[in-house]
Amino acid sequence: MKLIKLNNELEIPVVGTGTNTYGKEGNAFKGELRGDTEEVDWAVENGYRHFDAAQIYANEEVVGKGLNQSGVKREDYFITTKLNTNEGYVSRDWIDAEINKSLEKLQTDYIDLFLIHFPWDNSDEIVEVWHVLEEYYNRGIFKSIGVSNFEEKHLDLVLQNGTVKPAVNQIESHVGKWNDALIDYNKSNDIATVAWSPLAGIEDDAKQVLQEIGDRYGKTYAQVVLRYQIERDVIVIPKSHNKERQAQSLDIFDFELTADDRERIAAL
Ligand SMILES: NC(=O)c1ccc[n+]([C@@H]2O[C@H](COP(=O)([O-])OP(=O)(O)OC[C@H]3O[C@@H](n4cnc5c(N)ncnc54)[C@H](OP(=O)(O)O)[C@@H]3O)[C@@H](O)[C@H]2O)c1
Repeated sequence: MKLIKLNNELEIPVVGTGTNTYGKEGNAFKGELRGDTEEVDWAVENGYRHFDAAQIYANEEVVGKGLNQSGVKREDYFITTKLNTNEGYVSRDWIDAEINKSLEKLQTDYIDLFLIHFPWDNSDEIVEVWHVLEEYYNRGIFKSIGVSNFEEKHLDLVLQNGTVKPAVNQIESHVGKWNDALIDYNKSNDIATVAWSPLAGIEDDAKQVLQEIGDRYGKTYAQVVLRYQIERDVIVIPKSHNKERQAQSLDIFDFELTADDRERIAAL
């Protein structure tokens, strides 16, 4: 597995598994928890060691239980989770309580990467929350801290007012919406990009182009898309409710795209 070195020297596996529907009835985002950890178990068996969780997914306990019973040592897997700022800021006590719940549900005493999930319309509050994350980082409870869905202006706010630079900006990036300008902005500030929904947006025309490219390497259209992202140092977190497809998303380290392939993919 290729690792990417974050700006604080921590290493993150370049392919992780998304988890937002794992363990849920009907594989639905709002589904009730089924009580088993099947997709997490498959991911571990398939070799995933990077798990992308979030408070808003309401299934951190599925990830925590699956990892805890997997037999893999804690230092051998990487967990991301995210503060649910969908409704903005509540209070300092609220942040502490939410962090404690995450640690408990994920059955761990530290988080490898902790993100602010969404920006909101209050600069002072965003800075205040960032300072709280810095505090947990300085105490070693978070090994790295970052943001998600932040645009340039939000990043500037944190860069100008923080003492710790965000290690990561997790953003939407896939066929039809590569988000290249923001990826470049992240890079110019030494912030790694994680692409969410990396397999979204693939309509039939794009699928045909990608599969044509994949056929030359014995790979699927999805593997080509993921390979494209990791070749430009974008971390990907695909999720699948199918064990074989989950494995395929990890099997992208034995081929290399040509400049012409990359140009065709960039145009999709
Ligand atoms: N930060 C944020 O705001 C944010 C927002 C959205 C998502 N995320 C994170 O990003 C993760 C991934 O995004 P996502 O869950 O929206 O979708 P995704 O990973 O882009 O996957 C979309 C669909 O592709 C299929 N798929 C997966 N692997 C495949 C493969 N190898 N070949 C062909 N098809 C494949 C899956 O269907 P099957 O199950 O049928 O295989 C899946 O439903 C989430 O789980 C979450 O952790 C973060």
